[in-house]
Amino acid sequence: MQFELSEEQVLLQKTAREFARKEVAPRAAELDEKHEFPADLVKKMAQMGLMGVAVPDDYGGAGMDTLAYVLAMEEISAACASTGVIMSVNNSLVCDPLLKFGNEAQKREWLVPLASGAKLGCFALSEPQAGSDAAAQKTVAKRDGDDYVINGVKNWITNGAEADVCVLLTMTAPELGYKGITAFILPMDLAGVRVGPKENKLGITASSTTQIFLEDCRVPAKLRLGEEGEGFKVAMSTLDGGRIGIAAQALGIGRAAMEAAIAYGKERETFGKPIVKHQAIEFMLADMATELDAARLLTWRAARLKDAGMRHSTESAMAKLFAAEAANRAAKNGLQIHGGYGYTKDYAAERHYRDAKITEIYEGTSEIQRIVIARSLLK
Ligand code: CAA
Repeated sequence: MQFELSEEQVLLQKTAREFARKEVAPRAAELDEKHEFPADLVKKMAQMGLMGVAVPDDYGGAGMDTLAYVLAMEEISAACASTGVIMSVNNSLVCDPLLKFGNEAQKREWLVPLASGAKLGCFALSEPQAGSDAAAQKTVAKRDGDDYVINGVKNWITNGAEADVCVLLTMTAPELGYKGITAFILPMDLAGVRVGPKENKLGITASSTTQIFLEDCRVPAKLRLGEEGEGFKVAMSTLDGGRIGIAAQALGIGRAAMEAAIAYGKERETFGKPIVKHQAIEFMLADMATELDAARLLTWRAARLKDAGMRHSTESAMAKLFAAEAANRAAKNGLQIHGGYGYTKDYAAERHYRDAKITEIYEGTSEIQRIVIARSLLK
């Protein structure tokens, strides 16, 4: 497999890196501290084409590919993991299923503003009692004339507080189990949609996570995404792409943790030399660099397969699993290298440590990734 980047991809990486270093990184600590949604940064990312990187320009996107998206995600997430997930959800969990499963009218009306960043999207699959077991949906959509009437509760909705549009999964035929799940495009300003308060989280605090309550919400049938009963496939194949985005987010967090540890370790002296010259620290840094590089290769491979139109469920799961765990080890050891200072808010190490954790949980826990990988071995 070729890992050489095109000129266009290198340019996007460079542009995203400069933007991330100059405009995002200096704001990250304050955004985290205040739990503040970075509306102005999201607007700028939209102008740079970062809210719909792999969407064709005809549909409002940057007309690039998944690998380009991964490169940009790593850069933005290295500066601010919250800003990274806001971008990732809009690209992977909203634009991607609209591009793949939407009809032409839906693409014109919804994908164009989402990919150009004029609107922001969210994705609602999980419920209070249905997270890892995604098919155990309780939210029900009942057909009534030209509408569906939807009732239920959705959980853990990234961008929930700010989103204009939601890709929503519900049961249209609960007796059929996963074969009874159907996807919808849900405008968040419809009557019967209520957004809950923001969850008070350990990390990625500048991105919102909310519940969505659906109370006799009438959704026109023309907003059904795909066929009735096709929703589980929509959700799973969307997550196959989403997991590549989260792997890239993890890479960014892990790299930032490593770079912070190197910078600190060059300044800090013990026993007459900078601590980076002690073998204990050298070994930690070497492991971080090696694991992050391996994670990057897995992530790029999954992106390449997606771009080639090939099934990539297993490769996406491997990339997310490995990148998330590598990022957590890098963040843990990065903090350790900072010693007591790393435990304070004076350094970014503690934010990296808090932010890294979510990559092992959302878009399928590490345990779920292992299930996906193991099932592919046992087929
Ligand atoms: N692509 C296409 N089809 C797929 C698929 C995929 N990746 N994975 C499964 N399917 C199909 C199967 O082929 C099967 O269809 P057939 O019967 O026609 O063959 C059907 O779906 C059912 O498959 P399974 O029997 O494997 O389903 P399962 O109930 O055992 O679940 C699972 C499998 C992998 C555990 C799945 O439930 C899963 O991924 N769970 C985790 C959910 C998740 O990641 N949630 C995160 C929510 S998003 C989020 O985090 C919020 C945010 O805002 C960031």
